[in-house]
Amino acid sequence: MQRKPIIAIDGPSGAGKSTLSKLTAQRLGFVNIDTGAMYRCVALAAARSGIEPEASGALQNLCRQLDIRFVPAAEGERVLLNGEDVSVAIRTPANSLLTSRVAAVPEVREALVALQRRMGESGGVVLEGRDIGSVVFPQAEVKIFLSASATERGRRRYDELRAKGEAVSLAQTIAEVEQRDRNDCMRAHSPLVKPVDAIEIDTSGLTIEQVLEQILAAVSLVRGDNA
Ligand code: C5P
Repeated sequence: MQRKPIIAIDGPSGAGKSTLSKLTAQRLGFVNIDTGAMYRCVALAAARSGIEPEASGALQNLCRQLDIRFVPAAEGERVLLNGEDVSVAIRTPANSLLTSRVAAVPEVREALVALQRRMGESGGVVLEGRDIGSVVFPQAEVKIFLSASATERGRRRYDELRAKGEAVSLAQTIAEVEQRDRNDCMRAHSPLVKPVDAIEIDTSGLTIEQVLEQILAAVSLVRGDNA
């Protein structure tokens, strides 16, 4: 039997990766791997242990001790860090900013990329992140790059945080999205880039369903459905 494909979904924060990766995985019966949540777990564990983002050796050791799992639940997928449900704790604005600093550390990236390859190598997976199509699985059968303007992405993040009851301002949220873009695009190790062979979808002004249909059409093409 032919191996099921690897689907890489990359793009900046707020472009719609999480929602679309989960839906794509659901529709295809694939496993969804949220690599951003993995970097977020490292940042949370570092903050709790008082490890600074500059302490690369301590971060490398920390990565070896982390057990990160994704567990399906009625209210959506939960992220477990050494058995503790950290789904909410990893998504605070402070941890988001810390994550993009920790994710710039080569030792952290090497540890997590190795883990992501083990999790995805047998196929039938959707991986969402920043470097999936460029570094983790350059051989992925389907590569999608989602984009949207920083203002549009900041507005989406703002709506999400407000819905969770966080007291944030729109201007501040857009500024944080721009700051994370700078951190993610300018780091020396695996910066956010659009792979040349990725299909770029600008999600501004499109509904989730419209983007999902474009992704599923790309997958069908690769799998030779209806051929
Ligand atoms: O996707 P999400 O916004 O949850 O990712 C949080 C942060 O993790 C990003 O801002 C980025 O710094 C980092 N990240 C990364 N490489 C990935 C996924 C996320 O550097 N593959």
